[in-house]
Amino acid sequence: MTGTRKSFDATHGSPVCPPADHPQDDLEPNDPELYERLADQWWQPRGPFAMLHWLAAARARLVPAPHPGAVLVDLGCGAGLLAPHVRGYRHIGVDTSQSALRQARARGVRTIRGDVLALPLPDGCADVVVAGEVLEHVHDLAGAVAEACRLLRPGGLLVLDTLADTALCRFVAITVAERVGLAPPGVHDPALLVDREALARECARGGVHVELQGIRPSLPGLLAWSVRRGTAVRMVPTATTAVLFQGTGRKKG
Ligand SMILES: C[S@@+](CC[C@H](N)C(=O)[O-])C[C@H]1O[C@@H](n2cnc3c(N)ncnc32)[C@H](O)[C@@H]1O
Repeated sequence: MTGTRKSFDATHGSPVCPPADHPQDDLEPNDPELYERLADQWWQPRGPFAMLHWLAAARARLVPAPHPGAVLVDLGCGAGLLAPHVRGYRHIGVDTSQSALRQARARGVRTIRGDVLALPLPDGCADVVVAGEVLEHVHDLAGAVAEACRLLRPGGLLVLDTLADTALCRFVAITVAERVGLAPPGVHDPALLVDREALARECARGGVHVELQGIRPSLPGLLAWSVRRGTAVRMVPTATTAVLFQGTGRKKG
């Protein structure tokens, strides 16, 4: 995939290649600029971020009903796709993308522009910390997990979903998904896929014993979606965590 990316003319800052098929074709994999170019696509139910909507619904099913004043910190919140599913929480979203945060704010998320590797929030401030489809975008998995665990109060819940560092995942979630429109081309850098053992180890280091569960889109739902019937596909459990998986765990204490 990297080999098909176009190079830039450093002198003029413009692509030195023919017009791109996608607005992000001249970018390197995982370039944050992609989120700016696709800023108007976040809330399109059939757009390139469609699967993030299905994942947000599945993630929310792991989040308990809020008690009054409960705080949910959403790491890499994007445009706030989780917001409609977690009403009742003080929903704090952290992201690096200005345009995404603007949209999250419009959905009631209290936003902070920042890096998940250095969160400007106090220890133990969160009842729930969510890291949805963000760990496979960071260059320091241990640092991101340490920050997530640091924010949790004792007994607080970590909820995550991400992509596994396996050949199967590279094929299914990158090669195939990007080709059939289930993910924007170039959104993932295969080098950043998440090593599940390292993830569990770093969570344990932060006081969270995390349990992993593989998930995938329901096949009838995906079939209906592919013939333009319906806009949402239910994510269902699957036997393997080798592609897309969720994780949950409570902080000790
Ligand atoms: C695939 S999107 C997922 C967005 C959201 N969690 C969802 O599921 O709809 C990844 C998001 O992570 C953000 N992101 C990537 N690296 C980040 C970092 N180091 N710190 C904060 N946000 C980051 C991106 O800007 C983008 O909004």
